[in-house]
Amino acid sequence: MAKAVYPGSFDPVTNGHLDVIERAAELFAEEVVAVAVNSEKAPLFSMEERVEMLRAVCAHLGNVRVESMQGLLAEFVAQQGAAVVIKGLRAVSDFDYELQQALLNRRLKADLETVFFMTSPENLFLSSSVVKEIARLGGDVSQFVPQYVQQRLAQKFRRPGAGQPRD
Ligand code: PNS
Repeated sequence: MAKAVYPGSFDPVTNGHLDVIERAAELFAEEVVAVAVNSEKAPLFSMEERVEMLRAVCAHLGNVRVESMQGLLAEFVAQQGAAVVIKGLRAVSDFDYELQQALLNRRLKADLETVFFMTSPENLFLSSSVVKEIARLGGDVSQFVPQYVQQRLAQKFRRPGAGQPRD
């Protein structure tokens, strides 16, 4: 299969996102990870920070490109010369929202197909929101996010002795 776009807030990227990115990179010749604005959410990390973290943790994937995205996803996908949107599904609770998004996006661009990746079991209850909550309260997020992101979270919440992010 050709080119696919994996959109999301990625605030920040978690091991669950990375699992989907890596599995999609096996299936598609080219994958664009699109860091988007979700009008329902106030992000902790700026767009630039989210893109930078994703680029760092995807550096080992030769066919993955990370871009920021403004506006409608359906337009962005077409601009990229792609026709496939990748989404991750965890529990049934994700389904209603994702079905609505997939159907709306196909209304906006008739040839747009959404492909869902089922979560790996270890990531079933993982989300950027819970990671931020745990990190904010001083908990250990090492099993939920790449080490680089763990360092960036520690820096964001200024936990003494958590170390500095590497360049
Ligand atoms: O990680 P998230 O926050 O669940 O990702 C949601 C996102 C960013 C993929 C969604 O909000 C989105 O597609 N935003 C772009 C604007 C858009 O096209 N909205 C859908 C109209 S049907």
